[in-house]
Amino acid sequence: MCGIVAYIGHREAYPIVLKGLKRLEYRGYDSAGVALISDKIDVFKKQGKVARLEESLLGTHLPSTIGIGHTRWATHGEPSDRNAHPHLSASGRISMIHNGIIENYASLKQELLNKGYQFNSDTDTEVLLNFIDDILSNNKCSLEEAVRIALKRVVGAYVIVMLDAENPDTLIAARKGSPLVIGIGENEHFLASDASPIIEYTKEVVYINDYELAIIKGNELVLKNLGNETITPFVHQLDMELAAIEKGGYEHFMLKEIHEQPTTIFDCLRGRLDMVNGEIIMAGVQEHIEALKNAKRIIVVACGTSWHAGLVAEYIIEELCRIPVEVEYASEFRYRNPIIEKGDVLFAISQSGETADTLVAIEKAKQQGAIIFGILNVVGSSIARISHAGAYTHAGPEIGVASTKAFTAQLVVLTMIALKIAKAKKTISDDRFLHLMQELNAVPDKVESILSNTENIQAIAQKHALASSFLYLGRGYNFPVALEGALKLKEISYIHAEGYPAAEMKHGPIALVDENLPVLFVATKDAYHEKVISNMQEINARKGKLIAVVTEGDQSIDSLTGDLIFVPEADELIAPIINVVPLQLLSYYIGTARGLDVDRPRNLAKSVTVE
Ligand code: F6R
Repeated sequence: MCGIVAYIGHREAYPIVLKGLKRLEYRGYDSAGVALISDKIDVFKKQGKVARLEESLLGTHLPSTIGIGHTRWATHGEPSDRNAHPHLSASGRISMIHNGIIENYASLKQELLNKGYQFNSDTDTEVLLNFIDDILSNNKCSLEEAVRIALKRVVGAYVIVMLDAENPDTLIAARKGSPLVIGIGENEHFLASDASPIIEYTKEVVYINDYELAIIKGNELVLKNLGNETITPFVHQLDMELAAIEKGGYEHFMLKEIHEQPTTIFDCLRGRLDMVNGEIIMAGVQEHIEALKNAKRIIVVACGTSWHAGLVAEYIIEELCRIPVEVEYASEFRYRNPIIEKGDVLFAISQSGETADTLVAIEKAKQQGAIIFGILNVVGSSIARISHAGAYTHAGPEIGVASTKAFTAQLVVLTMIALKIAKAKKTISDDRFLHLMQELNAVPDKVESILSNTENIQAIAQKHALASSFLYLGRGYNFPVALEGALKLKEISYIHAEGYPAAEMKHGPIALVDENLPVLFVATKDAYHEKVISNMQEINARKGKLIAVVTEGDQSIDSLTGDLIFVPEADELIAPIINVVPLQLLSYYIGTARGLDVDRPRNLAKSVTVE
């Protein structure tokens, strides 16, 4: 979703802001713009890609050493030049970029219309900007003070960054509910929605908290709260390399990230899986082990792919720990007046740690007394900061919009947490515990073996690339894998795809089956194998085009289809981490066969920071 970049320092701002916007393209957007200061504020914005904005500015002399830039993902008003950010206030004095939604913008707009203000866009941002402009002219106060007054009236989520033509050496930023990172260089500061535009300049960053204002005047950064009290900035060291956010020779980030999985899974296990002593070391879990062990219920809240990881966790935790698990869509949970009882533990699963629905859902559960445990990829993210404890997935930056390596890392972390709780609760035997540790330890090599032989998957992708619909089926631990396979396909290829429990298809979706419908079964060896084969027979009898992910050496499906994808044998509890990999590859190859931009699928955003 919307990306924010800003620079203030001794260099020309435009090239830094432009490069930052390119680094944020992965978040998903539909227009881009920059504002710089000459003798006034100059705003340049275009609907479409950052490259279009860049092209329009070729040859323009832009010497400003302060600037703000934005990639917009439309919420209020269609994607267009006029709705793109930055916006300029009616007086021309101030300019703003904004990420988030101002929920009470309509009433604020009416106030301003009554005062004779006119608007050049349909956005909530322009309303907030002119609201501040109005306070500035009525109160004869500083911009900082006007922002503070305005934000006390604002309902909603925001990060804003502003330029002031009357103070061309000052940037003002504020946040509530959307992320903002400030990079601290040598006499220069870099502001962005995440660390990716900052990493090549500095590793020293400050994360701005909700209801905080950052005022950067010249070289000096001052943090204040809305009550005008000064706050001491806490400087973090970024643990991220530039190479992690570049393609490194791969055609797409998605392919690179799929291929990174043996390493990311290894990184996730490293230092935690102590094979010598037969232990799992996770400080965050250990610290709360009594609460976890005695939990009456674990509630998982998440969205999308992270929600699928939660479903796998439900199967694993109920099996190993004998604790009831409820997996909730964060967007539904937050509005449902959920029942939280003493002893409930809430797991928030999120790659970005910024998903608005998940964030608000856990705030609500926290207010009602739940212990919040975050399973997160982005260090220092908003969810990380409001969780009581948690575990990072260490998958590194995920740039491709479709989640791949973050998902497998989530599954690894959730499995380790379940094992740790089960051991503390004594609901697992020592032998089973050690066996599952060994199985986890073997995952990177098994994933590597799938990735070293993808020709077969490419051929199956070519064969079905023109299909208009797909069904993905699985049972038990493989049911959430089927859901995730279907989600990946629709995101990347725009082919309609449904995931279903294999046995449930008889209760409806089987009506879709004909000789044109590819039906993919995740049919690896597990407790349900025989039953899944029966379900495949039912599809075969109706001439559906069967594709199956099967365990190496399994010949029981040979007579049903030639479209077989073999994966190494694994314990059924660990198998989802392995079985999802060929499904990621299949959607990647179908998407590219259809000539689509797999890293930036239409309408999608990487970090969904609005409801
Ligand atoms: C799917 C995908 C989305 C995210 C969802 C939650 O490939 O990327 O479905 O999984 O938007 O995002 P996070 O995990 O960042 O909370």
